[in-house]
Amino acid sequence: MVEMLSEPLRSGSGANGTGALLEVENLHVEFHTRSGVAKAVNGVSYSVNAGETLAVLGESGSGKSVTAQTIMGILDMPPGRVTAGQIRFRGVDLLKLPEEERRKIRGEGISMIFQDALSALNPVFPVGWQIAEMYRVHRGTSRSEAKKKAIELMDRVRIPAAKDRVNDYPHQFSGGMRQRIMIAMAIALDPEILIADEPTTALDVTVQAQIMELLAELQRESNMGLILITHDLGVVADVADKIAVMYGGRIVEQASVYDLFRNPAHPYSKGLLESIPRVDLKGRELHAIKGTPPNLLQMPTGCAFHPRCPYRRDRCETEVPPLQPVGGTRKSACHYWREVLDGGTR
Ligand SMILES: Nc1ncnc2c1ncn2[C@@H]1O[C@H](COP(=O)(O)OP(=O)(O)O)[C@@H](O)[C@H]1O
Ligand SMILES: [Mg+2]
Repeated sequence: MVEMLSEPLRSGSGANGTGALLEVENLHVEFHTRSGVAKAVNGVSYSVNAGETLAVLGESGSGKSVTAQTIMGILDMPPGRVTAGQIRFRGVDLLKLPEEERRKIRGEGISMIFQDALSALNPVFPVGWQIAEMYRVHRGTSRSEAKKKAIELMDRVRIPAAKDRVNDYPHQFSGGMRQRIMIAMAIALDPEILIADEPTTALDVTVQAQIMELLAELQRESNMGLILITHDLGVVADVADKIAVMYGGRIVEQASVYDLFRNPAHPYSKGLLESIPRVDLKGRELHAIKGTPPNLLQMPTGCAFHPRCPYRRDRCETEVPPLQPVGGTRKSACHYWREVLDGGTR
């Protein structure tokens, strides 16, 4: 991977920030639509290191995928526009790189898998051919060599009888196996960062757990940094090190998985936790968060969560709460985080 960055780029690394492998800083992305400007991402910062797993959690429409697409350099522009921020990979701001340099980083430096494996695979080509394509296109590997590598990769993602199945077509595989094929393609070029955008949402619960376990194993084997995007904390909790909770295009809480589960510091995280079933709190009532996610064309004033928040006061309608340290490495964007913490998990 090191050889993919040219010398001048590498020497530019570590200019500022935390020095993490991937750092998103104060990212703003908006969409210009016929009905107005939708502010999809409003100042997101997060970082991931080698071997680390960050879970990005939030309801649909909170800006998780747009942030990921911007990192990958696959955001539709227009209508999308990055209006501020940096995305540093090994210290280099990807937003400033020419497209040709970015293309080299896609797949080899940073790679991504999507929710819908069926539509991402081409129905008319054998899966082995599609995996092999990664090597032929990026590395110029010969046809027979690429096929050998495809079988190796199918083995790596634990597809049984890979050698016999390399010529099978996508529809001959189950949903879980197709997602494994997508994972094989995503890790084909040994990326340093893998972004998995709701990789298990279309799968049933047992298969979800198997895919998560596979991602965790692959990460251990290759020490990748992993960004797991999800609306379902229950699925990723076992494998994530830290969590960023997003609401209305902002991060509202950042914490270790342990802290977040034990005692959330933002009313929204707390609401999310109360809406998932937990074996350790059996018999407890489940509460869905009342109300609907904000309309990005007309964001609520002050704290975007205030219309749905049980802790809200007058101040919340006018003052945007900054994401501030609330002890240790945790951060919360709530004026009343102390109260939320003191309340514990209801
Ligand atoms: N291509 C697009 N054109 C216009 N608006 C978009 C586009 N893609 C995303 N958005 C807006 O950005 C918001 C955030 O989307 P997204 O990041 O996909 O949310 P999620 O957290 O569910 O992944 C959406 O509510 C949507 O309105
Ligand atoms: Mg999404």
